[in-house]
Amino acid sequence: MSRVYLSPPDVGPLERQMLLEAFDSNWIAPVGPDIDAFESELANRVGVDHAVAVSSGTAALHLALLAIGVGPGNEVLVPSFTFMATAAAVTYLGATPVFVDCTAGNWTVDPALVAEAIAERSRQGRRFAAVITVDLYGQAVDYDELVPQCETAGVPLVADAAEALGATYRGAPVGSLGLAGVFSFNGNKIITTSGGGMLVSDDGALAARVRYLATQARQPVVHYEHTEVGFNYRLSNLLAALGRAQLLGLDDRITRRRRINERYRAGLSDLDGLTFMPVADYGEPNWWLTCVLIDPDRFGADREAVRLALEREDIESRPTWKPLHLQPAFDGLPLIGNGFCADIFERGLCLPSGSAMSESDLGRVIDAVRKVGPGGGAG
Ligand SMILES: Cc1ncc(COP(=O)(O)O)c(C=O)c1O
Repeated sequence: MSRVYLSPPDVGPLERQMLLEAFDSNWIAPVGPDIDAFESELANRVGVDHAVAVSSGTAALHLALLAIGVGPGNEVLVPSFTFMATAAAVTYLGATPVFVDCTAGNWTVDPALVAEAIAERSRQGRRFAAVITVDLYGQAVDYDELVPQCETAGVPLVADAAEALGATYRGAPVGSLGLAGVFSFNGNKIITTSGGGMLVSDDGALAARVRYLATQARQPVVHYEHTEVGFNYRLSNLLAALGRAQLLGLDDRITRRRRINERYRAGLSDLDGLTFMPVADYGEPNWWLTCVLIDPDRFGADREAVRLALEREDIESRPTWKPLHLQPAFDGLPLIGNGFCADIFERGLCLPSGSAMSESDLGRVIDAVRKVGPGGGAG
């Protein structure tokens, strides 16, 4: 039996073919027709006017914030319950992340806390340089109030949709709400280019500035002319070809991840002390990862015991994100909120959810969880 990974790449003959076609075309560079096509196909999918392909989701976040004008001394509101990259991009610019808690209802950022924080800054005559939302584990944030709140306060909203390509909010594609959206094509995401990212926006000037900054801030003249310092952040044309093939299979991958979630619910919902990440009724997730909460008293084992039991069966699972306000790298930075995300971290586990996962591997995971759970007798 082979190891079951959390969310491995899911590639096939089309990916191989398009990658080799790009190779044979000799556009083996961070420029080429597959980059142009990948950008327009992804913009089309997300329903925005512009997309800029870059080397990672982190790079896209970094340049989105830089293009907005975030700089030293600024504060940026960031959900605490996310991957490090969301806040790292803020610190690259010398700005300070201000962490905010999530809701129990769907684990994404709490719009009421965001509103309070914006209002409090405004009373002090201050303003956040940006608000970043995170469409967590493939589920959209509740944008209804957030978007107008940010607009009224004049605070740009950047949607970190790294995990959520293909998800929707009230019918609108995730990434299209706010001033700019960011996607990741890291190896574990719903579609991958091995590594890569995309900035999307309806704001042509913002997208053009990000494209320019990602290309060493090179002026459009024949010789190499630079009036400011930029970054070498463009995506390779080879990887864009891979991304185009993956994008063609996005809907299929969403369907398969949704079925995995349904299968886990069918196989585990009866276990006392095990609950699933809530799904909000305002949208359709892309079901990137299926996550559960373990209540040790009722389940009879804690999250770590479940993780280790899976590991013994050669199954990879991961604790949910460790909140950023608890990370040593951000020691001393406070949290706005009641610490709900810290509770999820104590009890949360992400289960294997790869779109190529077989029925028998799903059965293995379900059996292994049941064995350690109530009445399972694993001790
Ligand atoms: C929420 C979130 N933001 C940002 C990133 C960074 O993306 P990348 O790994 O492509 O830099 C990731 C994942 O890796 C992520 O999960």
